[in-house]
Amino acid sequence: MPNSPAPLRLGVNIDHVATIRNARGGTHPDPVKAALLAVKAGADGITAHLREDRRHIRDEDIATLMAALTVPLNLEMAATEEMLEIALKHRPHAACIVPEKREERTTEGGLDAAGQLETLRPIVSALGGAGIRVSLFIEPDPAQIDAAIRLGAPVVEFHTGRYAHLDGAVRAEELRRVSDAAALAAKNGIEPHAGHGLTFDNVGPIAAIPQVVELNIGHFLIGEAIFGGLEGSIREMRRQMDLVR
Ligand code: PXP
Repeated sequence: MPNSPAPLRLGVNIDHVATIRNARGGTHPDPVKAALLAVKAGADGITAHLREDRRHIRDEDIATLMAALTVPLNLEMAATEEMLEIALKHRPHAACIVPEKREERTTEGGLDAAGQLETLRPIVSALGGAGIRVSLFIEPDPAQIDAAIRLGAPVVEFHTGRYAHLDGAVRAEELRRVSDAAALAAKNGIEPHAGHGLTFDNVGPIAAIPQVVELNIGHFLIGEAIFGGLEGSIREMRRQMDLVR
């Protein structure tokens, strides 16, 4: 009998609820309220990215999320002293280290872990030492997986942005890269996650990769909530993921 794949977790990224809130400077819509609704609708965890410029999630959101959530919080953060200090103060379940450029609209590519081993080593080790599960947001590339192994990161999240934005044969090729990378990570004892740009239309093939344990999805779910409500958009994403597992 073939091994059944690990259950697939859904992490809902609530950054863009905060984007809408911040557009008018008040408190509505509340990303923490959205996080609690997301959990009710089937999210296994909540993801939030505290950016250097605080353009969406703010420091106080992290504190409120930590107090309110009964599911794991995955804090996305740049590899900086400031973010390390914040992570160590709040001790979320997980911290996903992402590259961050001030001028980008979103996280535009994976972390070059292979090119920054010495910068990342103390950060990964401090987070891990505090009991925070460290994830590296990398391209599905064997050199980056090798860096994750050298750094002792327990988790990698593969950037699916290229997969999401390509079509046809090139998309199939990128899907194969994600699938091969997930197999390689799992073979080396690293838990593979995936995320970025996932929608109802493109989530299936990524969710079907048997080694992938968690998907982190944000922008599409919050956008789709305009049409079907947040609970509706999350329940439908969950359904699409479960269809292929
Ligand atoms: N995973 C990581 C590490 C991210 O930085 C992001 C974007 O903030 C996501 C997942 C979610 O991407 P999207 O908002 O396109 O679903």
